Amino acid sequence: MKVPFLDLHRQYLSIAADIDAAIRSVIAESAYIGGKHVKSFEDSFAGYLEADHCIGVGNGTDALEIALAALELPDDAEVIVPANSFIATSEAVTRAGYRVVFCDALPGSHTLDLADAERRVTEKTLAIIPVHLYGRPCDMDGVMALARRHGLSVIEDCAQAHGALYRGRRVGTFGDFGCFSFYPGKNLGAYGDAGAIVTNDEELATASRMIANHGRIAKYDHRFEGRNSRLDGMQAAILSVKLTHLEKWTELRRANAETYRTLLAGADILLPQEEPEARHVYHLFVIESGRREALKEGLHREGIETGIHYPIPLPLLQAYADRFDSAGYPAASAAAGRILSLPMSAELTQEQVCHVASTLLRLQGGA
Ligand SMILES: Cc1ncc(COP(=O)(O)O)c(C=O)c1O
Repeated sequence: MKVPFLDLHRQYLSIAADIDAAIRSVIAESAYIGGKHVKSFEDSFAGYLEADHCIGVGNGTDALEIALAALELPDDAEVIVPANSFIATSEAVTRAGYRVVFCDALPGSHTLDLADAERRVTEKTLAIIPVHLYGRPCDMDGVMALARRHGLSVIEDCAQAHGALYRGRRVGTFGDFGCFSFYPGKNLGAYGDAGAIVTNDEELATASRMIANHGRIAKYDHRFEGRNSRLDGMQAAILSVKLTHLEKWTELRRANAETYRTLLAGADILLPQEEPEARHVYHLFVIESGRREALKEGLHREGIETGIHYPIPLPLLQAYADRFDSAGYPAASAAAGRILSLPMSAELTQEQVCHVASTLLRLQGGA
């Protein structure tokens, strides 16, 4: 049995009639940029998250960069970013004109190590970006307490965590901003690039919307030079259809995660754990093993696709060569050699999950 890492076509087939109708209506109305489909998605997504404002933008990287720019921090501002993330998180800081300061990850949880983050705070530190990596909410009580102690702005990177909850509240609504990616493979994915910024602050919402739309407040009324980063009508219409399925899809992901956990419980593998205060949405199901390469190869031979998110901690990437102490992120570095993302999606059947788990157990020599 072949098990793809992700099967987007299977998801499309399950909602094809609604998606096709949504695309047809955008074309019939020529509502390609702005217009009612974008407004309607922004309203629905804000409603779903219980956030006051949602601004659709071109992608998740732009969402982070625009949110950071809207804070108007001084040029030498330092922004703390976890070492274990996708490069978009740190790239956005640099592109907004600030300085990236990496902190280590927490062993096992892979979210940011708050004690290490606090050690790296200087008088120039003005913001922090908690990344709800793999769909697992960060310790937001801890993040917000640290931010209050040091007067930091908080930009939540929710690219992998649509619908995740922390103490019953959606991630993305704790900090000054929540930034989302709708890259096709995300839990809520468009059919191309798309992203969104959410905030409860009206001024920050207005500033973000202006930056994303050429610095204008109304047609030809440009108050400053902004940029062009807009969610388009087609993606918005598709996302509106898919948003109505998100909760059901999240529950299917969580059921698949639970099956993996049950079946792999006895193996010498570290499994993602559930925390009582958080609802993990399993964008990725990431296990840890000292025999990662052998397991990955063995699964590949059996037609089971896996991934590594991410093989190199950000501060050790060539993009940052010689800028950071390579020994300064021991937990993120150790995890990078052990992590393996198993197939995970709402479309993955329980039969496929069982097949992946039993193959893993066999490769481990445990069954
Ligand atoms: C943690 C994280 N942040 C930011 C991004 C950037 O999103 P996008 O690809 O939509 O620019 C991604 C997605 O790739 C991500 O996984």
